[in-house]
Amino acid sequence: MADRIIAVINQKGGTGKTTLALNLAVGLARRGSTHLVDADPQRSITQWVGMGGGSSGLPGVAQLDGNVTAVLSKLARSHRYVVVDCPPTVQGEAVAAIMRVAHLALIPVLPSPIDLWASVDMAVVVNEAKQLNPGLRACLVLNQLESRNALSRDMREAVAEFDVPVLAAGMQRRAAYRSAAVEGLSVYGVGKRGQLAVADIEAIIEEVLCL
Ligand SMILES: Nc1ncnc2c1ncn2[C@@H]1O[C@H](COP(=O)(O)OP(=O)(O)O)[C@@H](O)[C@H]1O
Ligand SMILES: [Mg+2]
Repeated sequence: MADRIIAVINQKGGTGKTTLALNLAVGLARRGSTHLVDADPQRSITQWVGMGGGSSGLPGVAQLDGNVTAVLSKLARSHRYVVVDCPPTVQGEAVAAIMRVAHLALIPVLPSPIDLWASVDMAVVVNEAKQLNPGLRACLVLNQLESRNALSRDMREAVAEFDVPVLAAGMQRRAAYRSAAVEGLSVYGVGKRGQLAVADIEAIIEEVLCL
């Protein structure tokens, strides 16, 4: 039985869903059997992993088509962790179906109030999903942070008003996330230059596993 089906969601593109999903999955795979599911019709994960030619450090990647609930439930029976990279939309059935079986929704957001408010509907989506899936947890994950304590006062106030808690751990803006992606690798796969990014992801994993 999977401990966790983790859905990485945000209706807004470019907030780091794919980056978080892939690196999180590689980090989780070091702890237990992990499957990464590409639920985005843009197929970024599939392309990314394809570029790495099998050296991404991921045991399994599947595309998600058809009966989402059945596919995820089946994967959850044979893996400890299932990570789902979701499409940048909350329209339609796909994300709603994923949220009905997920244990945790991680919502990457950029650290500006304007970007955060563009994601405000995600709190509504999470609350709707909780009606059918009461065990669902959800957290914002700050991405592209400039430095550890660089959150503006405006941003702290905006986060506090948001109906979803924010993880203490986040991802800083680091070239390694981009360069690893270009090579089809995770930040775990690029040696020393990925070290600080790996520390970001490890802190996120440790926090998430204690939820
Ligand atoms: N923490 C980060 N530091 C530097 N670049 C990042 C970071 N997070 C994401 N990126 C880059 O930003 C772009 C958008 O990220 P991506 O994960 O594709 O977002 P989404 O899947 O939400 O559309 C990509 O080019 C990615 O490499
Ligand atoms: Mg994406």
